[in-house]
Formats: sequence, structure tokens, C-alpha cells
Amino acid sequence: MKYQGIIFDLDGVICSTDEYHYLAWKALADRLGIPFDRERNNLLRGVSRMASLEIILEKSNKTYTEEEKAAFAEEKNTLYRQLLSRMSPADLSDDVRSTLEELRKTGLLLAIGSSSKNTPYILQRIGLGNFFDAVADGNCITHSKPHPEVFLKAADMIGLPPQTCLVVEDAHAGVEAALAGGFDCAAMGDARDDERATWHLQRFSDLLKL
Ligand code: BG6
Ligand code: MG
Repeated sequence: MKYQGIIFDLDGVICSTDEYHYLAWKALADRLGIPFDRERNNLLRGVSRMASLEIILEKSNKTYTEEEKAAFAEEKNTLYRQLLSRMSPADLSDDVRSTLEELRKTGLLLAIGSSSKNTPYILQRIGLGNFFDAVADGNCITHSKPHPEVFLKAADMIGLPPQTCLVVEDAHAGVEAALAGGFDCAAMGDARDDERATWHLQRFSDLLKL
């Protein structure tokens, strides 16, 4: 592999928490009578919590105050955290676990670059709380993807320039963020066919073939 470091998105790349995001937003949207489905949910990938809420509310015929919006975001996050609380190391797939172990042996620096403020909690639930060399997340950025800030921060934390790092993403907003930051990008999941990506992964373990 020509890279010295890999920066992984979290939701939808390391673990399937993207499904829990969908279920929690769906419950809120249903309660408010707003149409929302999995296709629309794909627009929220990589996007911050409040920006996600704004995308959902675009389909509402009501306008809401900032206080109401803050309460909706809190309601969604409470339900989302309930779903996360049931996660354990068993929720890390064998494909991801074995690939991370192999990559670790190669001496590559491994980091997380996620828009999520729940990143530390999720990593702890799935048993990766101490695994990564650096974690840049929604708690330490002011601009969410497609802005490159979170990946630039992660690269800085592992002491590598963007040109030597690969970003792994499942979101179109994340692919855009990676390229804007000067990184190569391996796209998987929902973003797998994104033509802007450097690599297209069928599965996480395809990283070992690069
Ligand atoms: C990203 C998800 O990882 O985190 C988005 O792809 C989500 O869907 C964002 O909105 C923020 O997550 P959180 O946990 O801070 O609400
Ligand atoms: Mg993602």
C-alpha cells in the first residue's frame, strides 16, 4: 500500500450505526408527519446532526422555532443513544475486525474522521475505544462534511500530510470532503460508485488489496 495512514469514517464504514441513525430519524419524522424514507436518509450520511434535521424538515409544511429544532435533535439523539447502548464488540463484523488487525500489523497509522458527536461512545461500545492512533469527530470541528476539516484534523493528529493518507467513506459528502482536503478516497456502501473516489470497495477487506 502506498499510504502511510488511513482515516476511516465511522458510521457505515466501521460499524452499521447508519441503520440506527435511520431508525431514530424515521421515528421523529413519523411523529411529526413528515415523509422520510431510506433514500432520503442517504442525504444525511456524513452530515451533522442539525444539518440532517434541516434536510428532514424541508419536507414539512410547518416552520419550527430554533428551540423546537433543538428539542427535535435531542429527541432523535436520545432514541439513537438507546439503540447504541445495545451494541457490543459482537457488533463489529468479522470482516472489519480482521482487516483492522491486518492493517495494524503493517505499521500504518489508523485514525477516525467522523462528523458524529457520539463517536467516543460508539467506539467504546464496539470495543475499539483504545484502538485508533487518533480520533477526530463531531466534538472537535466547526464544519461538517463535505468540508474537509475533520479529515485534516485527523491527519494532523497522526502527523501526516493529506497526500500520504487514504480516507475510507460511505457518504458522497465524505468523498467530497476527502478530495477537498487533498486525500485519496476509497468509497464503499452507499458511495461505492461515486466516480470522484480513487478506489471503489465491495467490502471493507478490499482495503488489503490496495
Ligand atoms: C455521521 C453520520 O457520521 O454523523 C450522520 O453519517 C450523522 O448521519 C452525523 O448525522 C452526526 O451524528 P451524531 O451522532 O453527532 O448525531
Ligand atoms: Mg458514514
